[in-house]
Amino acid sequence: MLRILICTAVMLFVAVVLALLPTPLDDPQMYIYSQPPKAEGTLQINHKLQRTRRLFENESFAPESFAADKKGNLYTGMGDGRIMRISSEGQLQFITRTGRHHSKCGRESMEPVCGRPNSIRVDSDGNLFVADAYKGLLKILLPEGIVHVIIPAEKGIDGIPFKYLNGLEISQSGLVYFTESSTKFERRDQLYDILELNNFGRLMVYDPKSRISRVLVKGLFFPNGIAFNMEESYILITELSLCRITKYYLQTSKQGQTEVFTENLPGFPDSIRRNARGNYYVGFSSVRLDGFNTFYLLMDYLGPFPSLRTLLTKILPKSWFDVFSSNHALVVELDRKGAIVSSFHDPTAKVIESVSDAFEYNNFLYIGSMEANFIGSLDLAKVL
Ligand SMILES: *[C@@H]1O[C@H](CO)[C@@H](O)[C@H](O)[C@H]1NC(C)=O
Repeated sequence: MLRILICTAVMLFVAVVLALLPTPLDDPQMYIYSQPPKAEGTLQINHKLQRTRRLFENESFAPESFAADKKGNLYTGMGDGRIMRISSEGQLQFITRTGRHHSKCGRESMEPVCGRPNSIRVDSDGNLFVADAYKGLLKILLPEGIVHVIIPAEKGIDGIPFKYLNGLEISQSGLVYFTESSTKFERRDQLYDILELNNFGRLMVYDPKSRISRVLVKGLFFPNGIAFNMEESYILITELSLCRITKYYLQTSKQGQTEVFTENLPGFPDSIRRNARGNYYVGFSSVRLDGFNTFYLLMDYLGPFPSLRTLLTKILPKSWFDVFSSNHALVVELDRKGAIVSSFHDPTAKVIESVSDAFEYNNFLYIGSMEANFIGSLDLAKVL
């Protein structure tokens, strides 16, 4: 009898302590993911990404995104805040930083100081636009590398400061479209945004001529990369936490409407880039495939149980969740209807662990990764 009483008391005590422990999650949502796709057909496991060459190894740090200008220079932003050029002669050159220099730049805790350039694009004048996760919407004048803050993160849009800018794309007419992954969590806390399964993401547009910016879409689930279709009649938005891609109409009778372009992707999509064929390359930060490395299907398992996710954030430090990110790099090619037509894998992370961008240029695929200390370069002639 006494033993039962003691047991009950201990259990009550543990329950009270767990209930009182702090959690960064406020109101996690339930979501039931569909059965992940099978690793067959166009998703058959191969080792094509293992042919990726590591350029500028140890001089690079987590390159996120790539763009090219008309002269054959490539640009990228590094995880320590550096904006770099790969000249047409193949030299890696420093341009500037989006934040302040500090000896500890590169650590997650320093990102708000050092800056974290996410998407980078070249405008028609040959200058750069950057969506910096912490600093806001930036323009970098070349060749001097002067950084202009177009919309500071503190200001944001519609009275809501930017917490985490991510994707960016410039239309033929010069309009700058960009995404905010979350109005709540910063980049360094993005794990919590995914665990909360909230829809606090936005798609916005900035017009450099009128200097007016506005919100186009609210309620997105961790919007990340964006891409126009060839005619620029719509824009595709990866919604990372739901493993889907949403289409937002810029023109036609459906202007202003959104619809699902493709869903139940084989991973958490980071970037989407249109390729030379008018299809799209999608890079994944983590992979989910049925019957392959099922240990990594964390969100598939936890999606239906919001309170379990809250509990995990109470008892596990953020870094512990890393064990659930798949050591499997994946790029898929989608056709114009959203069907997967081919895929490139590094299923053991032998050469590259994950993909933040897969940018086709001169028949090479330039590959960025949060985990890489190099710029990936894949000769497409060798793998297609
Ligand atoms: C980069 O650093 C690692 C570890 O120090 C070393 O093994 C590797 O050879 C270096 N790579 C290059 C290209 O210098």
